[in-house]
Amino acid sequence: LLNPGPTGTSPRVEAALRRGDLCHREPECAELMAGILAKLLAALGATETHRAVLLAGSGTAAVEACVGSAVRPGRRLAVVRNGVYGDRIAEIARRLRITTVEIHGPWVRPPDHGQIEAALEDPRVDALAVVHHETTTGLLNPLSEIGAIARAADKPLLVDGVSSLAIEEVDLAAVGADFVACGANKGFHSYPGVSFALLSERACEHVAAGAPRSLYLDLGTYLYHQHRDDVPFTPAIQTLYAFDEALDELTDEGGISARAALYRRRAQVVRAGIASQGLDFLLDKAYWSSSITAVRLPSGLTYADLHDALKSDGFIIYAGQGNLQREIFRVANMGFLPLSELERFNTSLARVLSSALAGVSS
Ligand SMILES: Cc1ncc(COP(=O)(O)O)c(C=O)c1O
Repeated sequence: LLNPGPTGTSPRVEAALRRGDLCHREPECAELMAGILAKLLAALGATETHRAVLLAGSGTAAVEACVGSAVRPGRRLAVVRNGVYGDRIAEIARRLRITTVEIHGPWVRPPDHGQIEAALEDPRVDALAVVHHETTTGLLNPLSEIGAIARAADKPLLVDGVSSLAIEEVDLAAVGADFVACGANKGFHSYPGVSFALLSERACEHVAAGAPRSLYLDLGTYLYHQHRDDVPFTPAIQTLYAFDEALDELTDEGGISARAALYRRRAQVVRAGIASQGLDFLLDKAYWSSSITAVRLPSGLTYADLHDALKSDGFIIYAGQGNLQREIFRVANMGFLPLSELERFNTSLARVLSSALAGVSS
């Protein structure tokens, strides 16, 4: 799977799905969840600075829980919109009846700092939201710089880290990330269906001062129950088993710095293969993440034809979104994915392109 989630999982993580049945009101479940939270915070270097809550739901559930909990009644959310997932944050806010102050920018560049500073001058703004890695294009927004702007304005920072945590190294405390949303899939190499929110001390205070906008996605409810070794709703037990195993696997492989290095290596392999075919990258190299490569479709080749030919060799690539739908294709290198598979992908891409483009010229 060379799409940005659901990603491949190792045999070890897959086997954990069969650990057995468990009632969520038994102490073994509280132990399982407490163990996951401890491993997660340790892996992220956030044990001393953040609390975490686990949700049953995909990454969007965690993003929505953070948005709903970060903004107090009558207050506003500043949102950086330079891709589909920034747009989604704004849409979540709209549906929660939260007024937004939006920082629009082109999808191929990080946001303009002056625009962010101007948005945060609005005294009604309660928090600044940004997507760390815009999966739309493979663009990394500069979290440290954006965090510094939020800190200077004394506004909490909400980070959608769904496609960057465990892939890109980030010091959440140094950045000043107060609310962070992520899922067990993608960089954590587990299954979709479990997501989580990380909360700084300030975020916990915000949650306590807010008024819940949702029954299921209220972070305050999760914190309250967690404090009592309890859960408010039925957790995704088997998916939690897999996440627990995936966190052990992450530690055994050397933690996040080793995983980040692995992703950089993978991205190099993919990008070398793409460059060797003379294809153009969508983004300036300075903005590249280490997990997604967005490539301009060569003229004469549709995404559907490229997708189908690669699929017949066993590879699933990903289409562009929004305005980029007809212009690009994306190759992700996320999840359990041996390097040899990426090398085989490069060979397949070369074969597909040479036969497709030979067809165009004949
Ligand atoms: C940056 C980002 N945010 C949010 C999401 C939404 O996650 P999910 O599809 O798990 O709800 C994705 C999914 O690809 C993403 O890449």
